[in-house]
Amino acid sequence: MDLGSLEITGGVPLHGEICIQGSKNAVLPILAACILGEGVCIIENCPQIRDVADTLEIMRYLGCRVQCAGKTVQIDASRVDAFEIGGEEAGRIRSSVLFLGALLGRMKKAVLPLPGGCAIGERPIDQHIAALRQLGARFYLEEKITADAVNLRGGRVCLSIPSVGATENAILASVLAPAETLIEHAAREPEVDELCGFLVKRGAQISRTAEGDIRILGGNKLGPARYRMKPDRIVAGTCLLAAVATRGTVAIRDFPCRELEALTEVLRDMGVSVVCGENRIEISAGRPLCAVPYLETAPYPGFPTDLQSPLTAVLCRARGESRICETIFENRFRIVPELQKMGAKIRIDGRCAVIKGLPALTPAKLAAPDLRGGAALVIAALQANGTSVIRNTEYIERGYEDICRDLRLLGAKIRQVV
Ligand code: UD1
Repeated sequence: MDLGSLEITGGVPLHGEICIQGSKNAVLPILAACILGEGVCIIENCPQIRDVADTLEIMRYLGCRVQCAGKTVQIDASRVDAFEIGGEEAGRIRSSVLFLGALLGRMKKAVLPLPGGCAIGERPIDQHIAALRQLGARFYLEEKITADAVNLRGGRVCLSIPSVGATENAILASVLAPAETLIEHAAREPEVDELCGFLVKRGAQISRTAEGDIRILGGNKLGPARYRMKPDRIVAGTCLLAAVATRGTVAIRDFPCRELEALTEVLRDMGVSVVCGENRIEISAGRPLCAVPYLETAPYPGFPTDLQSPLTAVLCRARGESRICETIFENRFRIVPELQKMGAKIRIDGRCAVIKGLPALTPAKLAAPDLRGGAALVIAALQANGTSVIRNTEYIERGYEDICRDLRLLGAKIRQVV
């Protein structure tokens, strides 16, 4: 595989205003939802990232007609006739598991390879299977996941972990079944609500109860829809953290500040000035940063696990000792040895990283271990005086359209090298 590299010369404070690409974690379930029902779906502001390209390949394989024009993707699923996804397609992206619910909804049958672990952790799918079983699906687990849902009955689904993917799979499987479904202990991530919003636009009846459960009155025919993806809160958070790392001033336009409240609260405690408007965030980080004595990742609205590595990179230069604990994915400290190559003082204590802030990091040759870990290393390199090189940027391309373009717009010295 041809894995590219990034060359970054750090020490330049980032300044400017930026708009953020469409959300990766929202578009992936929405694409899976396009195979439900008839009618052409048009997705606007679709992020141009590798995970989307791989998902569209799965959709073509299933029989969808897919047309892309820039960031607009048109999907005609009227001829979907397959219910099996091969190992190669599914293996490339973890979110192919969302086709389990979508295929059960559309074809009443699904065959997928068993997903393996991935770079950031084991990532089991027991919650997905339990949820779909509660809806009436039957599973045959051998070398593959084979499931059928001839009599999908709806009903009460109770998740024991508020898994984002399991919640989405339960929605996708139940929306066409002529029954009422209540998903208790559902994930509250905004991307789940975007999936619901898209399905409602197609004619589904889905709502959140006051307790946060998701109620689906299934069985409506789903029609065509045009839907515009909202900005990606993790990419927005990455840009803010890059600005903080370089002690810069950056504004994000057309972004709902409340979706990043867990991050902006931490930034304020670190001494960063944060101005939240209706649809805009502006941060300014001129002063030295304070450490974060204790923080743990948590499901939404808690601190997102996807921003844990980028924050860890910033804290390498904060004054004092920070303790960052990862509660969602066990392998999210694979950037620590890379940061140590830059002189960072970090030690792992169980599921926590203990970071002693230093005045400076030294440039180094680094390797991205995974998607968010790669973005975190970019942030680390932006704060080192001198030139660093980061290998394996293909990981970063899974979720960031063009990290060079975005950061250059803010004044960073960053370029892709082969
Ligand atoms: C989604 C996001 C990912 C984010 C994560 C947590 C997408 C495409 N990806 O991943 O970027 O980091 O939410 O916010 O939306 N678990 C089980 N059994 C299951 C399912 C999950 O034990 O069947 C565990 C996982 O190992 C993890 C936790 O539950 O510890 C949360 O996982 P989940 O919410 O399912 O994450 P994803 O949907 O995979």
